Amino acid sequence: MKTEYLNADSPADLSRAAHWLKHGELVAVPTETVYGLAADATNPTAVEKIFEAKGRPKNHPLITHIRDLDQLDFWAQRPPAWLYPVLESAWPGPLTVVLRKQPWVNPVVTGGLDSIGLRMPSHPALMNLLNIGQLAVAAPSANLYQQLTPTSPQQVCAALGGRIAAILDGGRCQLGTESTIVRISDNEVRVLRAGPLQRRELEALFPVPVVVPESHQEHVPGNKRVHYRPRTPVYLKSRNEIMSAGKRSDLVHLYFSDELSQWAAEQDDLQAIVMPADAAGYRHALYASLYQADQHQAGAIWIEMPPQAEGWDDIWDRLRRATLS
Ligand code: TXA
Ligand code: MG
Repeated sequence: MKTEYLNADSPADLSRAAHWLKHGELVAVPTETVYGLAADATNPTAVEKIFEAKGRPKNHPLITHIRDLDQLDFWAQRPPAWLYPVLESAWPGPLTVVLRKQPWVNPVVTGGLDSIGLRMPSHPALMNLLNIGQLAVAAPSANLYQQLTPTSPQQVCAALGGRIAAILDGGRCQLGTESTIVRISDNEVRVLRAGPLQRRELEALFPVPVVVPESHQEHVPGNKRVHYRPRTPVYLKSRNEIMSAGKRSDLVHLYFSDELSQWAAEQDDLQAIVMPADAAGYRHALYASLYQADQHQAGAIWIEMPPQAEGWDDIWDRLRRATLS
């Protein structure tokens, strides 16, 4: 299949993307978190193509992206009344809520579960597309199964070019890690996947207790411990470990601290990628840098451990999942 390249700034290209989705084809779309691989969520045959294109197991549920809070009840049954004002303020944005699905929703969308993950994305091009087509789209991240999540159209093209109808280029994703996923019950909110919205923001948003597990737990198929990894083995190392190992030509380093910058400046031809030292900058660069590090085809990628600080939960989560064997 020839994959069309579409520009998110062009109204004609947005209409073309809507046309493909309406006709049951797949389009990779930008979101504020990462690129998604979209299909019309009301068309089970189209949604099935996502699993084929990605090589993703069919029991892994997808997130459905909606364009309006008014659509919540169309997809989900009996959300608690307190959820509406919460979503008024959190949406559009990087928050996915898991709720009981409406009986009509095809199980292909939810991996056979009786719950559904819903979010309203804030990327203007995707919102335009959903409005033009009057669409809701099921969309996992636009990578092949268990490969790195894409945050640029180039990365999507390398993974899925030739397998899907079109790629809508909306530039680099603003945030850089996948949305925070929470399961909603009447009296409690539980974080299922760490994301850009973290404990403090969640506690300010929700009027019920927010449960944040200490470490990753696989609640549903698809939320795997081993995930988000480049092909090259990844290790998390302390500053001291990196400096005392010295320059090794078989390694690529990712570091952010001033100490390692100084050290790196004294090494000749060190293969290294400098990361931003603040959480937002680091998050934005994370997948693109892992992708770039992978292109070196080195023996291993050594990553300087990020700070154990508030705001870095999703970064730690993705790095831990990238490093486990
Ligand atoms: O930021 C994001 O969330 C991106 C963009 C494209 O929106 N999407 C994304 O999708 O990360 P994906 O498929 O890579 O991850 C979806 C995950 C599933 O693996 C599962 O862990 C969780 O969402 N999920 C979806 N529906 C669920 C449900 N009904 N119950 C529990 N978890 C669910
Ligand atoms: Mg994914």
